[in-house]
Amino acid sequence: MNNRKTAADQTRRHVLKGLAGSALALTALPILPVTTYGAGKKTLILFFSRSGNTRKLATMIHARVGGDLLEVQPAKDYPQDYDTLTKEAKKEQQEQARPALATKLPNLDAYSTIFLGYPNWWGTMPMFFFTLLETHDFSGKTIVPFCTHGGSRLGRSEEDIKRLCPKTTVLKGFSAFGKHVDEASTEVDAWLHGLHIPTVR
Ligand SMILES: Cc1cc2nc3c(=O)[nH]c(=O)nc-3n(C[C@H](O)[C@H](O)[C@H](O)COP(=O)(O)O)c2cc1C
Repeated sequence: MNNRKTAADQTRRHVLKGLAGSALALTALPILPVTTYGAGKKTLILFFSRSGNTRKLATMIHARVGGDLLEVQPAKDYPQDYDTLTKEAKKEQQEQARPALATKLPNLDAYSTIFLGYPNWWGTMPMFFFTLLETHDFSGKTIVPFCTHGGSRLGRSEEDIKRLCPKTTVLKGFSAFGKHVDEASTEVDAWLHGLHIPTVR
């Protein structure tokens, strides 16, 4: 038999020693699993997609990690015309606008991990995602960013999320070129694997 003590054994002994004499020492200590990803709480995938690319990526991620999938909509109708839309989105960013959301989010207490998906708009998230992050409490949760883009990848979005949610763990994001999102499945697998995020299928 191997008599070498593991670090976990030593920690448990240390804790028990510390508790000796207290009422708590009478209760058997539960042995906690080493990895507590999600800590028994659910995963939520929030995303927005104007022309469908980010929706495809969100669906791909959902098929792997499970949990709840929710498409978030802004309260205002953005212009259909691409050029008009890009001008409006640029103006919102220059003005640091905080456009309202139409979608009411579920109670976030039920979730520990939130995947956040968006198209790259002028180097970061659409401005109503700034509203989303500022008006909900993501403290203590894990945000996993993902986006589709036309060449700028995640841009500054990861830094923006970290700045807006300083009490949140922000994991390494994933980006796919919008036009090639259908071919991203192997990369999605590698990304989730690299983050040690368990997949359900
Ligand atoms: C308003 C607007 C701004 C954009 N700005 C950028 C950008 O700065 N960098 C980039 O790589 N792609 C940019 N794009 C392209 C989108 O990120 C890309 O087409 C994305 O895949 C669209 O996702 P969706 O189909 O989910 O809406 C922009 C698109 C729009 C509509």
